[in-house]
Amino acid sequence: MTILVTGGAGFIGANFVKYIIKKYPNYKVICLDALTYAGNLETLSDVMDNPMFKFMKGNIACQETVYQLFENEKPDIVVNFAAESHVDRSIENPRLFLETNIIGTQVLMDACRKYGIKRFHQVSTDEVYGDLPLDRPDLFFTEDTPIHASSPYSASKASADLLVLAYHRTYNLPVTISRCSNNYGPYHFPEKLIPLMITRALADQPLPVYGKGENVRDWLYVEDHCSAIDLIIHNGCVGEVYNIGGHNERTNLDVVKTILKTLDKPESLITFVTDRPGHDMRYAIDPTKIHKELGWLPKTKFEEGIKLTVTWYLQNRSWWEHIVNGEYQSYYEKMYGNR
Ligand code: NAD
Ligand code: DAU
Repeated sequence: MTILVTGGAGFIGANFVKYIIKKYPNYKVICLDALTYAGNLETLSDVMDNPMFKFMKGNIACQETVYQLFENEKPDIVVNFAAESHVDRSIENPRLFLETNIIGTQVLMDACRKYGIKRFHQVSTDEVYGDLPLDRPDLFFTEDTPIHASSPYSASKASADLLVLAYHRTYNLPVTISRCSNNYGPYHFPEKLIPLMITRALADQPLPVYGKGENVRDWLYVEDHCSAIDLIIHNGCVGEVYNIGGHNERTNLDVVKTILKTLDKPESLITFVTDRPGHDMRYAIDPTKIHKELGWLPKTKFEEGIKLTVTWYLQNRSWWEHIVNGEYQSYYEKMYGNR
């Protein structure tokens, strides 16, 4: 079996590459990644020499690159993680999100049609459902919740989802889609809430919480996301959408306070800054379908996962210091300088 993992030098894609290599030592894993600011080959250094793993630098939206790869490697399964993934960046530059997240998905699926494939799996997000109100804790996103995107990022992911389902109906392409809640864990790029707060707290820098910090996210340890995708690509029904989430809802303020407590740092580091435009209030996944149909359940409770994550950042300082000392500094100034 040959699996093509796009975006495998990013946070979740790299965790997935390692998960698959460990669980299926006889599978060939090809990673196609453009190495944007979010792609990091250091993350893959421990698998680079594995004879069953191959890294290729390239853009999923470039037809020539993608067709050549399919011609040479003939993947059986494609798992598409490659994306521009940060909401704040999508507010600054929507176009790039449309090019990678929509056109890139279309190019990959056209290659699947041309060369043949057992499965195309699209890694999507709960953000395609929009948000839920804070005063209705009884409401959850199911697979039937209407698409209602808020940001250019989520609109681009929703568009890609529609395209994936259209390719299934029109061309009978064997597709599946997963829509997961917020991930956290090792190798998370320090622009996202949890790694940003851990790395800044370690440097005793102010922690920028948007608005009042009351927005709610449904946190899932990244390994649990990997195990869910593993089940879907092997046992999931073609043409189906699966929500992935573990009922770990927390306000942003709670998350930041938990990190500070774990690191024994003062809450005075918390700084409230201007809110994100169009900021979604609450995400909450109903994972009943994947549990009932595929037997998936998350293994890691938030309290345990956050400790594992903080420990990982403490033990792998050079990984994130290389990022923080580079291009990320000027990005931080641009995003937060005037807040
Ligand atoms: P990430 O930003 O950490 O990684 C994205 C990777 O894609 C990087 O390695 C980058 O170099 C690569 N990439 C970007 N544009 C590319 C292109 N045009 N061609 C090839 N490679 C390209 O993202 P992540 O957080 O690991 O998210 C991975 C996927 O999971 C995304 O599709 C995202 O929408 C989805 N998702 C993320 C979360 C989350 O909480 N992080 C939750 C649900 C779904
Ligand atoms: O729900 C899944 C989505 O989760 C994925 O599709 C996205 O790719 C991923 O980036 C993530 O989106 P969010 O916008 O929820 O993640 P982020 O880490 O950017 O923000 C989490 C919450 O924290 C959100 O309410 C905004 C807030 N926040 C974020 C940053 C970066 C802050 O208060 N301060 C910050 O500096």
